[in-house]
Amino acid sequence: MARIELRKIRKQWGEVVAVEDLDLVIEDGEFVAILGPSGCGKSTTLFMLAGIYMPTAGELLFDGIPVNEVEAKDRNVGIVFQSYALYPHLDVRRNIMFPLKFKGVPKAEAARRAVEAARLVHVEELLDRMPSQLSGGQQQRVALARALVKEPQLLLLDEPLSNLDATLRLSMRTEIKRLQRHTGVTTVLVTHDQIEATTMADRIVCMRKGRIEQIGTPEDLYERPDSLFVASFIGAPPINLLPGEARDGRLAVGGTELELLGAAAGRVILGIRPEALRPGEGGLPATVLDVEPMGRETLFLLETPLGQLRALLSGATAPYGAGDRTAFTFDPEDSILFSESSERRLPDVHVRLPA
Ligand SMILES: Nc1ncnc2c1ncn2[C@@H]1O[C@H](COP(=O)(O)OP(=O)(O)O)[C@@H](O)[C@H]1O
Ligand SMILES: [Mg+2]
Repeated sequence: MARIELRKIRKQWGEVVAVEDLDLVIEDGEFVAILGPSGCGKSTTLFMLAGIYMPTAGELLFDGIPVNEVEAKDRNVGIVFQSYALYPHLDVRRNIMFPLKFKGVPKAEAARRAVEAARLVHVEELLDRMPSQLSGGQQQRVALARALVKEPQLLLLDEPLSNLDATLRLSMRTEIKRLQRHTGVTTVLVTHDQIEATTMADRIVCMRKGRIEQIGTPEDLYERPDSLFVASFIGAPPINLLPGEARDGRLAVGGTELELLGAAAGRVILGIRPEALRPGEGGLPATVLDVEPMGRETLFLLETPLGQLRALLSGATAPYGAGDRTAFTFDPEDSILFSESSERRLPDVHVRLPA
């Protein structure tokens, strides 16, 4: 296990800067997710941790020891890729034992540890099969066993669930979380899926265009997003965003005015999550435009004086149909304000529906 530190890490190929100015500390035993859209530098960061890529600049430390110059094979890092990358000509047992070959582990001990790792991920009954005889989910479990067999000080997972179907993805999420808790191995998960990141990780590093946008717990990113980018990236269905003008203790949005709590002036963006809206007497008058059942919840598209809003209510049966008129309200602390020009959140500023 290790504490990982990235100091001003940068990776560049010719003109392309993939990662820039990355400062991050991952505590010993922590489970961190690197989250962001395709091409933002997640895999590049992971490959630098693995020793597959060498940083162009900056310092990388494992337990306080610089490892920039340490080769991948000497870092004791386990890595799982989206494509399971099993050796097709080796059976499951030999696939799992493979990383121990280069560590001088005696054959008998390697075989014993392979069985142990296979048990950990529940593939012990598959040890004599060939990869071609396994389902995608089973292959991914074997890849996990292969990454864990050398008892790595760091486990790296690059979009490990992307190739699995929805049901399997759900169970593997729980499974990987359990494994991480059980082994206590410091883990970095790379994903573009905000649900994966928020359900699995202790902390999320949200990246955009090669830079860190925000680091925090899933709750931090959901409730206190530093920027419009994070606010929009986290949460499904996405947050409602409405342009407005703050002036003299009031916020003009759409065709109406809200009471401003806290100091703000000029062009702002008001954010309200669909799940923060609920039916309420004396709230915003709302006309239901559309109703979308989403299993246990129902999504409503509303026309309101603020503009169009998405509202998510629990319950599979809709209390309203298209064309119904009703009223919706929200708590001031569930309103988030951003500066329109900087796209940064205005801390401690909220709005309230006029009484
Ligand atoms: N080997 C490489 N050579 C040149 N450019 C690369 C290489 N690997 C990645 N890049 C570029 O770096 C950026 C980040 O890529 P990557 O880390 O793979 O993003 P992500 O994993 O977040 O989708 C992209 O613009 C990508 O095209
Ligand atoms: Mg990637």
